[in-house]
Amino acid sequence: EFHKTPKAVSFAHDGPLGKFDTAQLQRGLKIYAEVCSACHSLKLVSFRDFAALGYDEDQVKAIAKGWKTEVPSLNPETGEPATRPAIPADKIPSPFANEVAARAANNNALPPDLSLITKARANGPAYVYSLLIGYENGQPAELLKKFPDAKTPDGLHYNPYFANLNIAMAAPLTADDQVTYDDGTKATKQQMAKDVAAFLTWTAEPKLENRKSAGWAALGFLIIFTVLAWMSYKSIWADKK
Ligand code: HEM
Repeated sequence: EFHKTPKAVSFAHDGPLGKFDTAQLQRGLKIYAEVCSACHSLKLVSFRDFAALGYDEDQVKAIAKGWKTEVPSLNPETGEPATRPAIPADKIPSPFANEVAARAANNNALPPDLSLITKARANGPAYVYSLLIGYENGQPAELLKKFPDAKTPDGLHYNPYFANLNIAMAAPLTADDQVTYDDGTKATKQQMAKDVAAFLTWTAEPKLENRKSAGWAALGFLIIFTVLAWMSYKSIWADKK
């Protein structure tokens, strides 16, 4: 009863005619790159996929090359494990070498790969948005009154949108203007949460627009087919009384 379902929020890509708002996806990428990528990977997305967000080849190369985390590789001379700057064909890497390192840095919790998170959770885009801005200062008094033993453990954070109410991730979006948007959009916490939720909708379903337009094409075909079937029926039975 203390758990909350995601807030109502609308996106450009909603509905049967919805399309991604490319400017919003670029802003979402910026939030992901500057904030979330400190802990979360996008293992199903390559840097070159960012071309779909409106970047040209040189911009994609620059984004890959400038990425904070380098990708694992081998030293070409010694064969020792090393890292190198990312190239467009690389997947968006995890900042942690492995699960042990990731857990050690996160109070024993594992930051999940975010590629498919908006599909993995009910009402995913709205969930991500709500989770990011849904942190509360301490637990509601009624909760502690009813369940005195349910105090948020040290190192966890109370968030009523998270399935078990206490999440290991500290609020990542803490202040307005935490990032500076290139397109002049005011970076309120709500705006940043919405933009990164839209971006993570794109990572989970980059072909969303194709799916929707294929649906319309199928409907159009069915309508034509129905008319044709009706006309053949009429013509086949035309001389039968
Ligand atoms: C979990 C999103 C930044 C650490 C999650 C979850 C989402 C998410 C959707 C999964 C919740 C679930 O399982 O339903 C984001 C976004 C970020 C961000 C969009 C940027 C705006 C960060 C940062 C850190 C972090 C910077 C580390 C300092 C974690 C950890 C978990 C987690 C440890 C697992 C929590 C648990 O299982 O209790 N994050 N995150 N996240 N995140 Fe983040």
